[in-house]
Amino acid sequence: MKYVRWIAMMALATALAMPGCRKDNGNSQEGSDEQSAPADPMKNKGIGPISSLELAAIDPSLAQKGAGLFEIKCSSCHKLDERHVGPALRDVTTRRSPEWIMNMILNPQEMIEKDPIAEDLFATFMTPMANQNLTQDEARAVLEYLRSEAGK
Ligand code: HEC
Repeated sequence: MKYVRWIAMMALATALAMPGCRKDNGNSQEGSDEQSAPADPMKNKGIGPISSLELAAIDPSLAQKGAGLFEIKCSSCHKLDERHVGPALRDVTTRRSPEWIMNMILNPQEMIEKDPIAEDLFATFMTPMANQNLTQDEARAVLEYLRSEAGK
């Protein structure tokens, strides 16, 4: 009886040790970073000072303030409907979360280094998005402007 149990233990121990045999194939673990982009981009809040943002109905006067800032700080690189130095931004609020957009405006350098979506954009556009040193309130106004232009 004891002998049978010993065999069973050995079999179990061998089975448990099996995955360890593949350890030398360590490449597959490094590669897994590449797949970390969340399936739904709207659930990605990006990296930076904005962790959560509740949106209400569009505030036209805030959007207007944002339009002026966009003209001065963003239009050298972004148009609404065509690719320029960076992507066209008309419908960006439908493909990115508000937090992600704010963090891209406020913290572009870290975003293109660490956020999977921003990294991919940088790989496509080959120019790093510049930090325009907007305050959070100014970035929020620009976001309102982009919301007001979406789908027009
Ligand atoms: C120096 C040029 C430059 C300026 C100025 C600039 N951007 Fe960008 N922006 C880019 C580039 C290029 C990208 C693509 C990512 C990359 O390559 O860094 C980008 C990406 C973005 C994205 C992501 C777009 C998407 O499809 O997800 C948003 C949002 C954005 N910029 C908003 C702004 C806003 C708002 C301003 C003004 C406050 C601004 N950018 C100023 C060049 C710029």
